Amino acid sequence: MWSSNVSNDNQLSISSISVTQLAKEFGTPAFILDEADFQDRATKWNSALHAAFGDNAGSVYYAAKAFICVEVARWIKDIGIGIDVCTGGELAVAIRGGIDPKKIEVHGNNKSIAEIESAVAVGVGTIVIDSLYEIDRVAAAAKSHGIVQKVLLRLTPGIEAHTHESIATAHEDVKFGFSIASGAAWKAIEQVRNAPSLELRGFHAHIGSQILETDSFEISAQRLIALLAKYRDEFSTQLPELDLGGGYGIAYLPGETDLNPDTTMKALAAVVTAQCEAHNLSIPKISIEPGRAIVGPTMFTLYEVGTIKDVTLGNGANRRYISVDGGMSDNLRPALYQAEYTAVLANRKSNAPKISARIVGKHCETGDIVIREIDLENDIIPGDLLATPATGAYGRSMATNYNHVPRPPVIAVKDGKARIILRRETEGDLLALDI
Ligand code: LLP
Repeated sequence: MWSSNVSNDNQLSISSISVTQLAKEFGTPAFILDEADFQDRATKWNSALHAAFGDNAGSVYYAAKAFICVEVARWIKDIGIGIDVCTGGELAVAIRGGIDPKKIEVHGNNKSIAEIESAVAVGVGTIVIDSLYEIDRVAAAAKSHGIVQKVLLRLTPGIEAHTHESIATAHEDVKFGFSIASGAAWKAIEQVRNAPSLELRGFHAHIGSQILETDSFEISAQRLIALLAKYRDEFSTQLPELDLGGGYGIAYLPGETDLNPDTTMKALAAVVTAQCEAHNLSIPKISIEPGRAIVGPTMFTLYEVGTIKDVTLGNGANRRYISVDGGMSDNLRPALYQAEYTAVLANRKSNAPKISARIVGKHCETGDIVIREIDLENDIIPGDLLATPATGAYGRSMATNYNHVPRPPVIAVKDGKARIILRRETEGDLLALDI
């Protein structure tokens, strides 16, 4: 839940800097990022992939959608892993961060022609094709640049992953990819093979996000490998790559645990090895695309309490509403997926008895909830700081300007130093869009 350099003695601190200091220097709300922890997690997923698959390890592609900014792209470059981008905007940040285009993989179910064109023009390593239209569009862009573009086909392996329905992606009734079961995948394979400017390298599947059991990943790998075997039987040649996507779940609440990179990769490697043996295939290069598992636990959100209100419920019970200076504009996940978070009183220790509270934001709707139900010290007052852990993934990246709220900054902390890596938006930034 909390990143490795966070401690909570007299108050919450990260790499020896107290939240009081951080709030004073950078204001609230703010995303506080544990830089060493990010680098450590990215490195651990990379080592786990290599330890489990050895020479057959492909690449870790960090899923930029979880969170990206130019400085984080530089870290990705320095760590040496790849990056998964799914829009022209994410591609631009990756390039600005100096990532080698060959280590970029481009996703998206509706890449625009302009996005395809700029991806091909910068020389991205792989484009993951998601529809029949796109086969023609990528082929045309590659042809006009006089290159042969490496591509994967995004496939739908028909799996009901155990997660919220909005973030499950591999059952049949989805907008993503080509269904294996219906034969759509086979049609796409034939069409790619007929395009001289495309080189089909293999298959990709992403079954969903925030998945905490490895069995769905294993079934997905099994189905992709069966299709690799069918391909080999038909065309007498084997495709060299499989990308098994992201989705590795993390802890949000006390008592939960992150999926462990080593055990997860070992479990996958066991299935891949057994399935390849059963089909008499050599093991393809295996890649993965973790986003949340790398960045999620590395940030917490720091809020200041603004107002407090006690409300009597129908049954006579009391609910304390604690309003903070952010809300659904910096964390949409509770409203979108009923995601649950925890929080602590961060600027001081209190032994006061706890009472049932709801942490809400400053936006003009009832659904603007950060935490629906939490027991918090009953002496919390306006001006206190609250911190919500594990907001690194899909927090700042899905932040909005709802109610014309400027989006919070991201402050990276390492070795006792804090610095802004993504500044706070200003009212000036918002007004700059008006004509
Ligand atoms: N690869 C592909 C093709 C993806 O679509 C995604 C996420 C990932 C990798 C990374 O998944 P991760 O390892 O981060 O779970 N906004 C939602 C999550 C949406 C995920 C979309 N795709 C949330 O806040 O839970």
